Amino acid sequence: KILILDFGSQFTQLIARRVRELNIYCEIHPFNKIPEIDDNTKGIILSGSPFSVRQEDALHFDFARYHGQLPILAVCYGAQYVAHFNGGEVLPSSTREYGRAHLHYIENANPLFKQIYPGSQVWMSHGDTIAKIADNFEVIASTDSVRVAAYQISGTQTYGIQFHPEVTHSIDGRQLLENFLVDICGCAQDWTSDSFIETTIAELREKLGDDKVVLGLSGGVDSSVAAVLLHQAIGKNLHCIFVDNGLLRKDEYQSVLDSYQHMGLNIKGIDAKQRFYDALAGISDPEKKRKAIGRVFIEVFDDAAHEVQDVKWLGQGTIYPDVIESLSVKGPSATIKSHHNVGGLPDFMKLKVVEPLNTLFKDEVRRVGKALNIDANILGRHPFPGPGLAIRILGDVTPEKVAILQEADAIYINNLRASGLYDKVWQAGAIYLPVQSVGVMGDERTYENVVCLRAVESLDGMTADWCHLPYDVLAKISNEIINNVKGINRVVYDISSKPPATIEWE
Ligand code: XMP
Repeated sequence: KILILDFGSQFTQLIARRVRELNIYCEIHPFNKIPEIDDNTKGIILSGSPFSVRQEDALHFDFARYHGQLPILAVCYGAQYVAHFNGGEVLPSSTREYGRAHLHYIENANPLFKQIYPGSQVWMSHGDTIAKIADNFEVIASTDSVRVAAYQISGTQTYGIQFHPEVTHSIDGRQLLENFLVDICGCAQDWTSDSFIETTIAELREKLGDDKVVLGLSGGVDSSVAAVLLHQAIGKNLHCIFVDNGLLRKDEYQSVLDSYQHMGLNIKGIDAKQRFYDALAGISDPEKKRKAIGRVFIEVFDDAAHEVQDVKWLGQGTIYPDVIESLSVKGPSATIKSHHNVGGLPDFMKLKVVEPLNTLFKDEVRRVGKALNIDANILGRHPFPGPGLAIRILGDVTPEKVAILQEADAIYINNLRASGLYDKVWQAGAIYLPVQSVGVMGDERTYENVVCLRAVESLDGMTADWCHLPYDVLAKISNEIINNVKGINRVVYDISSKPPATIEWE
């Protein structure tokens, strides 16, 4: 295991992903909440930071405690920190060191640079630079403008690099990380989906014994993979609950329920459509809709959970980014929309929480799902918001509007599938606008609603670009919707990116 100490860099998660791509397990911890070092810990990586070591409120950590104990790779701010507080000096750089650079000098005997040769392109991103290093520091790589691009504290396994090996623009970044992790730290590259499944199932059995667990399934990837892992660990003691909130896509409830039953899960489907529609009646404010849906979901779920005798645990599909976000250095980012899965346990449920995926990133969850033979249809599914179509119907929600949107959305999604675009798009959906416009059908004037199509490319939903869908596909979808969905006479396409827009309209 590798510990990554986070000083708040936007790239910290990327470092973790790169380490894991090398089949080595790592954990991110805030620089000021470092866990005990155990025998499994083979090395430490210090991240970059938006802070400067010259600031009075620079982020400090107990370097002396770890230096010499474990190999350390300090990146960017980390490297400047170690240099500055160990006899060197960091100054604002005269030229802005940002973007591509080339390592014209590399100390080629250094194990950190094994199989990396002069000329290697690296990515810099900092406003400070290491101007001076102490005598016991040794420069092991330089670019034209940055003499101390990389250093080693002589005779130790502490290294600093001012460039970012985790971004793909650093062409040999992966090799450098592998050199550090495998050759210097001595990590075995044996962390794979199969090993994760094996150890997780063993841990779950140990932790849960004969206890019963309830888990709410959503049809999404995370809760499905969590359910299958728990099912393999404790079989029928896992009680899954799948709620039809009446806000799912067309036919989704039945088809998802069928595939869960097919997977052998012990699952109970609950038709609660009317309870949700009643709670939503007359509400137009997006956050009030979310709250109403959240409240009813908890009530429905709680009723269902109470039917399971002696249940002790609540299973959740929480994944690693949710966990990192909840303890990040910057604190949870400002709530723009009230959606989060961590800490969502209402007091009255009084259950202990088990989260088998809380160390995995999304793509790792998919890989584990694949190794567990979960239906590709479930694994490849676009993200879909918990409040469902309610936040894709602007204004108040009625069963009639839901039915209209379900039809339009189904035509949209089916066409994306048929044209092979579904898997290229990160998320897509139709939005029902509370706007009427004039149209003409045959000889008749119409005055009906507008549907907006949205499709985005994204990695994690934090930022997104609108997709340049081919015009002929859009034309076909528009025609089909207007000709087949009563109540819609106009279709538009959303060409806004996030930021400044968001993916959902509400
Ligand atoms: P936004 O609209 O914030 O969406 O750009 C980013 C991602 O989050 C999803 N989303 C939600 N998911 N409950 C959820 O479970 C919500 O209330 C919610 N709001 C947005 C959205 O679909 C996208 O994938």
